[in-house]
Amino acid sequence: MSQRPVRILTGITTSGTPHLGNYVGAIRPAIAASRAPGTESFYFLADLHSLIKAQDPARTQRSTLEIAAAWLACGLDPDRVWFYRQSDIPEITELTWYLTCVAAKGILNRAHAYKAAVDRNRAEGEDDDAGVTAGLFMYPVLMAADILVFNADRVPVGRDQVQHIEMARDFAQRFNHIYGEHFVLPEAVIDANVATLPGLDGRKMSKSYGNTIPLFAPQAELRRLVFSIVTDSRAPGEPKDTEGSALFQLYQAFASEAEAGEMRAAFAGGIAWGDAKQAVFERIDCELAPLRERYQALIADPAAIEARLREGAAKLREKYAIPLLRKVRHAVGLRPLQTALEAERQDRAAARPPLPVFKQYRESDGRFHFKLVQGDRLLLQGVGFDSPREAGQVIARLKSGGAAELRHVADVGVHLGETLIGHLAEGVAVEEIVEALSRLVEEA
Ligand code: TRP
Repeated sequence: MSQRPVRILTGITTSGTPHLGNYVGAIRPAIAASRAPGTESFYFLADLHSLIKAQDPARTQRSTLEIAAAWLACGLDPDRVWFYRQSDIPEITELTWYLTCVAAKGILNRAHAYKAAVDRNRAEGEDDDAGVTAGLFMYPVLMAADILVFNADRVPVGRDQVQHIEMARDFAQRFNHIYGEHFVLPEAVIDANVATLPGLDGRKMSKSYGNTIPLFAPQAELRRLVFSIVTDSRAPGEPKDTEGSALFQLYQAFASEAEAGEMRAAFAGGIAWGDAKQAVFERIDCELAPLRERYQALIADPAAIEARLREGAAKLREKYAIPLLRKVRHAVGLRPLQTALEAERQDRAAARPPLPVFKQYRESDGRFHFKLVQGDRLLLQGVGFDSPREAGQVIARLKSGGAAELRHVADVGVHLGETLIGHLAEGVAVEEIVEALSRLVEEA
């Protein structure tokens, strides 16, 4: 896997509706990164992961459409990056099983999300695993399959996901150790520069706090939400702190350095909260208005998005997933039966000693002798016969199944039926001669 571009892979769980925090913290930086030269980027909708929490089919479908449309509207270009949906790549779920069979359960026990659920149960005096699905428990294995199926080198993630990448490395390593080198060990990349955005109440913007601003809220709604951001009670003319101000942080996430500097000065100069809010709204809307328009067009044509996602998955499967799984299946021993038998037969043939050969000659005593040798090992030294014909008859019988009639009589020699035909060579048992001769019969 030497001189290929660095592979960067990002999974997007398809739950909920994208909000400004997702945009600033994930979508915008990821799209900027996708334009870096010398990289091959993979962006996918982790819809199988979303099933772990969401069990509302209509919402799952809606969320997948919205999130796909959001990424496209924000500038993700499917002509330069791989853009696909996890569930369109069946090799991911298949690989999940192979990884499941090497993943240590003890490691999964330590996964943050699972441990948090267990801790909650303990605190409430419940059974450890109350309400915990096997899906939640297996989350890290499915995620490892997402990454390993394309042998991604780097995975940009938030801090909460670093442990999952460590687990993916662990599973890859175990698999490689048992079955040979198939997987690159991925690395987590944490972007320290990415801002976390405050929500309407000043806490981190998050769906679970209910303090979000939807990314594609209509203009009037965006304005209303910005105006609802919590501020202190300072009157117009009073200087205001930018430090700890959700409003200022929001502005900063969309403004240039120079604009942020001007806003800082305006805060110090006592700008009225209403005016500050109007400025924040205008700045955000200026960036989002064109994206909103694209988003509306995209979401109005779900069939086009469906087609794009399918196309991405089909190409990726053909180029990477199907060939990789073919190798992986073979590596673990899921192989066509006839090829396995053929390989075994070849192994056996390679390990076999050479075929035995008879050598005939006339000695100085005038009699006709033969010997049986295998490679450079003498097995049987024949007695002398009166004529070459007699010797030839004995050899012919031995070659054609007569070995079954061989007997060794101690101190006398080897008999074929009642006839003494020769002597065992030093260290050879008569069974070895029978075995060697059976090969000749087999080959004939
Ligand atoms: N677990 C990730 C999250 O919640 C989403 C995800 C699924 C992912 N599979 C992935 C991220 C593979 C990176 C790589 O954010």
